[in-house]
Amino acid sequence: MKQDYNFGFDVYDDITDLTKVDAALLTEARLITQKAYAPYSNFMVGAAAIFNNGEKVFGTNQENASYPVGICAERVLLASAGILQTDEPIKTMAISYNNLSGAGQSNQPITPCGMCRQSLAEYENRVSQPMRLILSGMEGKVIIIQSAAQLLPLSFGSDSMK
Ligand code: THU
Repeated sequence: MKQDYNFGFDVYDDITDLTKVDAALLTEARLITQKAYAPYSNFMVGAAAIFNNGEKVFGTNQENASYPVGICAERVLLASAGILQTDEPIKTMAISYNNLSGAGQSNQPITPCGMCRQSLAEYENRVSQPMRLILSGMEGKVIIIQSAAQLLPLSFGSDSMK
């Protein structure tokens, strides 16, 4: 038996096609890339999220001279979310980046790394609510995904341990 995995997502030409609320969140993600600590990659990532209650939380990547110690913006954000609002669902997270390394471009949507996908799925599971993801760079195309778990098919989670 063969099974398929499909999911749909929305693609927009740029930020002007988004709702006001989504555009504001993406603008904040773009702005906070300035606070990334990325002296090794010069790949400045910013994340901004809004809880169900309207409160916001932010994250940027935090690198380290010992490279594997560095943490992505998404997981920095989720760590803050966990202490700011215990078990409060995040409705939407916007992620952007500014690639300051040489000829790097910043106009294609970013997609979270594998480790962050696992963390995002755990957060959704914990608060029993899908988290929308708004993915972009400093300009150009925007992708919106309705649930972070869609980025991690056949994932390992708490149910796997029952
Ligand atoms: N990075 C993030 O913060 N989020 C992503 O979604 C992709 C990658 C960071 C990790 C590292 O500091 C730099 O970007 C280059 O990989």
